[in-house]
Amino acid sequence: MKLVGIVGSNSTKSYNRMLMKYIAVHFDNIAELEILDTNDVPLFNQSNNQTNSDAIQFLNKKILAADGVIIATPEHNHTVPANLKSLIEWLSFDIHPFEKKPVMIIGASYFGQGTSRAQLHLRQILEAPGVNALTLPGNEFLLANVRGSFDEHGDLKDERTSDFLKSTLEKFVKFVSVIKALDDVEDVSADEKVTESPAEEDEIDAMASVSLDDEEETTPATKEVEDDGTASVSIDDEEVEEKPVEKPVETNSTEKSTEDDATASASLDF
Ligand SMILES: Cc1cc2nc3c(=O)[nH]c(=O)nc-3n(C[C@H](O)[C@H](O)[C@H](O)COP(=O)(O)O)c2cc1C
Repeated sequence: MKLVGIVGSNSTKSYNRMLMKYIAVHFDNIAELEILDTNDVPLFNQSNNQTNSDAIQFLNKKILAADGVIIATPEHNHTVPANLKSLIEWLSFDIHPFEKKPVMIIGASYFGQGTSRAQLHLRQILEAPGVNALTLPGNEFLLANVRGSFDEHGDLKDERTSDFLKSTLEKFVKFVSVIKALDDVEDVSADEKVTESPAEEDEIDAMASVSLDDEEETTPATKEVEDDGTASVSIDDEEVEEKPVEKPVETNSTEKSTEDDATASASLDF
């Protein structure tokens, strides 16, 4: 799996870049990660369209070719920094490489909330029309007090933090696989539609009209349930059948919901 990691800071020495490098080096067995910088991205300006500039096109092509994207955002004034916002504006103006692209948000900041507010904003920005990225709900990695978090080799000092980062990455990679599988199914059905010949289409239309005609001719049936638990079905007011109504088996609602949850978690266990 090929991911790209966008560093949301344009600072020369960036903790968010360190975090991205840490993922690329330590979790290369989970996914291949190419790190992309935003340093050359111009400030967005609708009157001066720079969509075709090298900086924007470079990032556009990298994102389009990737299976998924990780964005590491700093937090400036309780939101995402201006350069990251500018980049997303360029990439939702004339071109839309984030469309249906799975994106994971991470972030590192100096203080106790570890980019929580910037990450919430980024999630909303990524869901905006024109951006339309896909983020996995609940999969968050926030690195607070980042100035004391790395050792001199650029490694996370706390093993539990590293383990948690790994688990969020693994969940994201599963999410990317699910999206990829859905895309493949869509592609196959689109191909099948294209290969239908005009003759086949006529045949399908004819079948559709026959079944619709049949439906029009069908006499509506009515079903009545009596007090004693029997039901009678009549067509044209003529009673044709009488049999006991099967009562639904009573289920303990708590048990049922647990079962439903278990099924859901089995198939959506990211
Ligand atoms: C203008 C400005 C505003 C900042 N506002 C916040 C803030 O709201 N919350 C926060 O946790 N850190 C804030 N910081 C400190 C950031 O945590 C820090 O600059 C940044 O996240 C470090 O990321 P980087 O090393 O990748 O650039 C601010 C920094 C600057 C320069």
